[in-house]
Amino acid sequence: MESLVGRTVVVLGGSSGMGLATALAARDAGAHVAIAARTPDRLARAAATVGPDTRSYALDGADGDAVEAMCADLGVIDHLVSFTGDQPAAPIGETTHDLVVQALDARVWTARNVCVSAVARMPEHGSLTFCSGLSAVRPRAGRAAGAVATAALESLVRAMALELAPIRVNTIRPGAFDTPVLDRAFGANKHEATRAFVEGLPIKRLGRPEELAHAVLFLMTNTYVTGTVLNVDGGALM
Ligand SMILES: NC(=O)c1ccc[n+]([C@@H]2O[C@H](COP(=O)([O-])OP(=O)(O)OC[C@H]3O[C@@H](n4cnc5c(N)ncnc54)[C@H](OP(=O)(O)O)[C@@H]3O)[C@@H](O)[C@H]2O)c1
Repeated sequence: MESLVGRTVVVLGGSSGMGLATALAARDAGAHVAIAARTPDRLARAAATVGPDTRSYALDGADGDAVEAMCADLGVIDHLVSFTGDQPAAPIGETTHDLVVQALDARVWTARNVCVSAVARMPEHGSLTFCSGLSAVRPRAGRAAGAVATAALESLVRAMALELAPIRVNTIRPGAFDTPVLDRAFGANKHEATRAFVEGLPIKRLGRPEELAHAVLFLMTNTYVTGTVLNVDGGALM
């Protein structure tokens, strides 16, 4: 198994939620951590939380030039994980072309940019991990654009795993996790709003970001897993 001690781990979307938890877990495993996200203030606060040596880059993953500049600045990248993307709300009939492009840019085009720029600086033991969601196989009504993007991302990951080998490329597919996404969506009603879903889970609670981070570190460090989708969902897909 790979050790992360002294390795450079880049977390795209590392300023919040599961990305920040992954950055903290990689730091605790001995890695040099770099984080990237669009909002500079939150990024700076997260970098301070991860530690004084944490490098941070304010960028949009869909911006190929910015991703290239970050990767060039870092030099060597051993592992990269991306948490970019969201689930924009719109019924199919009201889903505009712009909305679909936005959803695909955030996940698929970002992954393509990473493929071009990070892999060029990645040793053979390196890995890429991309975050999708249950919507890839179980879409929710009114969220088709995001579902298309998560499914397309998983397909691209399999293609990358073939093309980039021996670099390993995997998808992490979270269920419902207690991150700022839920706070933004439901505010103080978060627990009420998620109660029915949570009661239907074999493990009757939301996931904790550090549980997802633990699974990402498994994908980074297990040297025989590639092209897979790892569900971390409290049993939601059963
Ligand atoms: N939480 C859940 O229950 C859940 C379930 C299934 C799937 N997911 C997926 O898991 C991922 C992480 O979710 P989370 O709950 O941890 O969300 P979060 O707390 O909102 O964190 C998202 C992170 O990604 C960054 N980001 C988003 N779009 C970006 C872009 N285009 N370029 C660069 N950085 C970007 C955000 O910072 P900026 O906004 O400042 O860029 C932030 O750092 C998302 O893809 C989400 O769709 C979440």
